[in-house]
Amino acid sequence: MKRLEGKTALITGAARGIGFEIAEVFAAEGACVAIGDLSHEEARTAAAAITAKTGAKAIAIGMDVSKEEDCETAVAETEKAFGKIDILVNNAGITRDNLVLRMKAADFEAVMDVNLKGAFLMAKAAAKPMLKARTGRIINISSVVGQAGQAGQANYSASKAGLIGLTKSLAREFAPRHVLVNAVAPGFIRTRMTEGLKDEAKLKISEMIPLGRMGEPAEVAKAALFLAGGDSAYITGQVLSVNGGLYM
Ligand SMILES: NC(=O)c1ccc[n+]([C@@H]2O[C@H](COP(=O)([O-])OP(=O)(O)OC[C@H]3O[C@@H](n4cnc5c(N)ncnc54)[C@H](O)[C@@H]3O)[C@@H](O)[C@H]2O)c1
Repeated sequence: MKRLEGKTALITGAARGIGFEIAEVFAAEGACVAIGDLSHEEARTAAAAITAKTGAKAIAIGMDVSKEEDCETAVAETEKAFGKIDILVNNAGITRDNLVLRMKAADFEAVMDVNLKGAFLMAKAAAKPMLKARTGRIINISSVVGQAGQAGQANYSASKAGLIGLTKSLAREFAPRHVLVNAVAPGFIRTRMTEGLKDEAKLKISEMIPLGRMGEPAEVAKAALFLAGGDSAYITGQVLSVNGGLYM
């Protein structure tokens, strides 16, 4: 039996990268998936590719996670298409890197708005039906940078550390209704977000990683699958690091 048979999932920022991989793995395990993304067009292409590959139902939702109304509509569209929402993955994220003295307040706010406030708004919208159903899973995609800090990423690091606090608070608040909330903290993963790094920087990063290489989106997706499925029924408020040993 597939691990997410009969389940429905909404994954934000799933038009590409880690989010796309999570949606594809969930679909391959039997879930109906809603692909939420800023780009409705890319979300549509992603949903069609997932259905073609897995045969699972997939819908595309154009949305901005930093807007409360969009978050509520995304949950409503998921429920309308699939009848319910069992799993939410807060994956949408952006970077606006700079050294602190050069970082504009607007760049700090933009990153917090998407990475942290977006996850709060989505969790709030999805929790309503989940708490009512007395079951659900929320998975927040944090980062090793939120655990260890990173020069040049004060905004991103603060947002990702904030996600860990949010995860633990939601976990405590929702546990009585069996809604489990956990975070995945990826290390350096090969996606468009890290594509811009210079080869020299990539080599330096790989040398710092005990497993000696960057990670693949599929390796993060498998951790999310574990937290979404029946094998993690007694796990809530935790941070699962997928970083090749970079941070222990
Ligand atoms: N790539 C890495 O090394 C790495 C490491 C740790 C954590 N992460 C986290 O994993 C998540 C996915 O990263 P990725 O590398 O796949 O990034 P990516 O840039 O390839 O994909 C991010 C997706 O999010 C969407 N998005 C951006 N802003 C949005 C918004 N306001 N509303 C809805 N969708 C929005 C984008 O359109 C894009 O499709 C992010 O939260 C990121 O911070 C990535």
